[in-house]
Amino acid sequence: MLTGKRILLIISGGISAYKTLVLIRDLRKEGAKVTCVLTQGGARFVTPLSVSALSENKVYTDLWSLTDETEMGHIRLSREHDLVIVAPATANIMAKMAHGLADDLASTLLLASNIPVMLAPAMNPIMWEHGATKNNVETLRQREIIFVGPTEGNMACRESGMGRMSEPEELLKAVHNFFLSGPLKGVKAVVTAGPTYEAIDPVRFIGNRSSGKQGYAIAEALLAAGAQVTLISGPTHLKSLNAANMIHVESTREMLEACEKSLPVDICVCSAAVSDWRATSMHEHKIKKEAGNLPPTLSLTENPDILKVISNHPDKRPSLVIGFAAETKDIEQHALSKLRKKGCDWIMANLVGKDKNGQEKAFGSDENQIYFFTRANEDCELWGCMSKKHIAEHLVIKIIEHFEKNRKND
Ligand code: PMT
Repeated sequence: MLTGKRILLIISGGISAYKTLVLIRDLRKEGAKVTCVLTQGGARFVTPLSVSALSENKVYTDLWSLTDETEMGHIRLSREHDLVIVAPATANIMAKMAHGLADDLASTLLLASNIPVMLAPAMNPIMWEHGATKNNVETLRQREIIFVGPTEGNMACRESGMGRMSEPEELLKAVHNFFLSGPLKGVKAVVTAGPTYEAIDPVRFIGNRSSGKQGYAIAEALLAAGAQVTLISGPTHLKSLNAANMIHVESTREMLEACEKSLPVDICVCSAAVSDWRATSMHEHKIKKEAGNLPPTLSLTENPDILKVISNHPDKRPSLVIGFAAETKDIEQHALSKLRKKGCDWIMANLVGKDKNGQEKAFGSDENQIYFFTRANEDCELWGCMSKKHIAEHLVIKIIEHFEKNRKND
């Protein structure tokens, strides 16, 4: 699949550098030409000899190599490739990239590069969560750097959390996606998925039964069609989509902030089950059940409406905004009213609650049934009961048709 593709792989200093040896082998197997740069730290984890043997190519390590630099080696390296991958991408190399430092070969050629860059972050969870790293990630995302991972799990330092480098097969999938030329190539999308949680006290929250399955399926179908996808997910048990820019949030306000920061995009699909209200104030400590006291009352405040904010954005409104409507009755009437009130372009309504057999109809289930409405044509289009994956594919076909029609009209 990758015949003729030229990949520059920068291996920086992290324990997961050993995984890049497998990645090099897999990329070579698919016909890619792989040129590797080892940072000083990277060379402590894998040897130039093994990297060179697997890539069947010279390995570059030194900015001050006389032989390489007589040919302006760092400039040449930064231009002669189709994609740069940094794996593992340590907190250090990401900080250098974000701030434009160029004090070794890897950082210099990243600064001199004018080709797409893909990062596979790997670090201790506290480092990943650190405000400095978060700001750097944000800066790099705004520069359209492609992030693959990190994922959650046990770390070499015996801690666990977010920060593991994605596995070589996930990275390979992301490289395939990058070179894939699907009908939505060049189109940017934001998808929201899952529930939002609104804290009452440190242990209790207001939430709902959304599993995120529908939203994740939509993100996957958009990725398969070649779109660049940011998936903003509330708390779910689903595996992160490595090929998407994953942003994990908890509350509605966090979800809105992440959505707004991800703009401008071409498409926004709001499939998250967003909490309409939050507790007016969050208790600092767990509310105690004291004998003889009345149960506490919960005062609620309305949350911002993400779909409405995005649909009415003054200068960054996506050209296609798709909302959902979760209804227990009068579905068509409520769906149309939401379509008009919120200002989105399409609405996908589904009946929620339990069926006659006590099974959930949409929340958490693998199947769903959609009542589809558009602003242009308010007639209901009923999609038969199908898997959430099929619903996602059906939606993406409609999106492709929509963009093709608009292109023709331009
Ligand atoms: O996650 P699954 O288990 O796969 O289930 C899928 C689903 C049932 C959650 C999904 O298909 C669905 O219906 N999602 C929308 C749920 C919802 O919150 O519906 P609503 O009718 O309350 O809201 C209407 C629209 O406004 C939605 O697009 C919602 O994302 C948005 N909204 C709602 C409230 C709010 N404060 N901000 C919003 O953006």
